[in-house]
Amino acid sequence: MLSATLQAAFNDQINFELASAYVYLAMSAHFDESSLPGCAKWMKHQAEEEVGHAMRLLEYVHDRGSSVALGAIPAPTGDFGTPRDTFQQALEHEQAVTARIHKMYELAQSEKDYATVSHLRWFIDEQVEEESSAGEIIAMFDLAGQNPGALLTIDGRLGARE
Ligand SMILES: [Fe+2]
Ligand SMILES: [Fe+2]
Repeated sequence: MLSATLQAAFNDQINFELASAYVYLAMSAHFDESSLPGCAKWMKHQAEEEVGHAMRLLEYVHDRGSSVALGAIPAPTGDFGTPRDTFQQALEHEQAVTARIHKMYELAQSEKDYATVSHLRWFIDEQVEEESSAGEIIAMFDLAGQNPGALLTIDGRLGARE
């Protein structure tokens, strides 16, 4: 079984991953409404990945014989702004997730819960990817500037995400 503290941290993170999915779904809708279907598709994939992360955590809680408690998912707020602004917000969101995962990792280490330390390594690696891909997309928007042709090229590229 997980300690009560770790169980609470996992339940909190399950909620945060689902809230992340909700944020990305809102960003996807924003892009669809801005005639950027490639960006919309990329964000929809991202939302699905976040649901996958929540599932992975949820299954682990059960594998350890602990209990899942699902909380309310907050409505995404905010004004997403330009495509670059939206991806900047996504990057900042991922940085917040990374900080949370690292805290959980430190907690697992302090409790000498080696199974949880091992399980969380996947998330640590995943966060490196998440931050890197958001960062690369922001860099592409910086290169494109206000050039509509370049923006459409980026949109096409993001739409090719499998
Ligand atoms: Fe995630
Ligand atoms: Fe993520």
